[in-house]
Amino acid sequence: MARRKYVVGNWKMNGLTASLDEAKAIFAAAAEHPAVDVALCPPFTLIGAMAAAAQGAAVGGQDCHSAASGAFTGSVAASMLVDAGAGLVIVGHSERRDGFGETDADVKAKAEAALAAGLSVILCVGEPHAVRESGAAIDHVLAQVRESLPDDFDRSRLAIAYEPIWAIGTGLVPTVEDVAAMHGSIRAALSERIGAGAAELRILYGGSVTGDNAAQLLDAGDVDGALVGGASLTAAKFVPIVAAAAALAG
Ligand code: PGA
Repeated sequence: MARRKYVVGNWKMNGLTASLDEAKAIFAAAAEHPAVDVALCPPFTLIGAMAAAAQGAAVGGQDCHSAASGAFTGSVAASMLVDAGAGLVIVGHSERRDGFGETDADVKAKAEAALAAGLSVILCVGEPHAVRESGAAIDHVLAQVRESLPDDFDRSRLAIAYEPIWAIGTGLVPTVEDVAAMHGSIRAALSERIGAGAAELRILYGGSVTGDNAAQLLDAGDVDGALVGGASLTAAKFVPIVAAAAALAG
C-alpha cells in the first residue's frame, strides 16, 4: 500500500499574527500539490487563526498535556487543541525531552491523550551525537519507539518522526544510507509490535531538511515525509520541500 508523503512544518517558538501571511502563502502553494499531506504546527497562540486559513492543509500543536484538564498552569490539553482547530500534535520532540525532562512514559501518555481526543500524532525519536558516534543509534531509537508508542492506536493517525538531535538546527544531516537504515529498523520494530499494519505507518525524517536536500532524503527507503523546523518559517523555504515531495509522489 502506497503511503502518502507528509510534510510538516514545526514553527517552534516563532510566529506572531504578522506571520500568518507566510502561512497563507504556504497553504496556497500546498493546495497545488494535492498528492502531499501538508501540516503546519505553530505556537498555540496562532492555531485558531491558522486553522481558519488552512485550505485543506492541517494545523497542529507542538505539545499537549497528558491530562484531560486540571491544575496544570501553562499547559494545554489535547481537547483544547481540537477546540482551537488543530488536527494533529507533535509529541516527544527532543526539545521537550531534553529541555523539559519528558520521559518516554510521558511521551506515551501524551500520545494516548491526543489520540483519545481525536488528534493525529507525530511521535518524535532521535539520538544525541555521542550515541551516533558510539554506533548505538539504532538501539537507542528503537528503545524510544518501544517505550513511547501507545499500547493501542489507529495506524492512520500515528506517524513517527526520526530526528537525530545533532541534525536539528545545525545544518548537519546523516547520510541517506544512515537515514534509510534507521527508518527500516523503525519499521521492523513496528512490525514486531503491530504486524503487517506497520506498512501503513508513515515515518518522517527531521533535522536540517531544506529545499536542497529534501528530494534525496524523501526518496530514501521508508522515508515517508519530513518534519521541518527552520525551513518551514517562510513559504520561500518550505514550498520547495513540499514540491520535492510532490515530485516523488508522481
Ligand atoms: P530543523 O528542525 O529543520 O530546524 O533542523 C527540525 C525539528 O526540530 O523538527
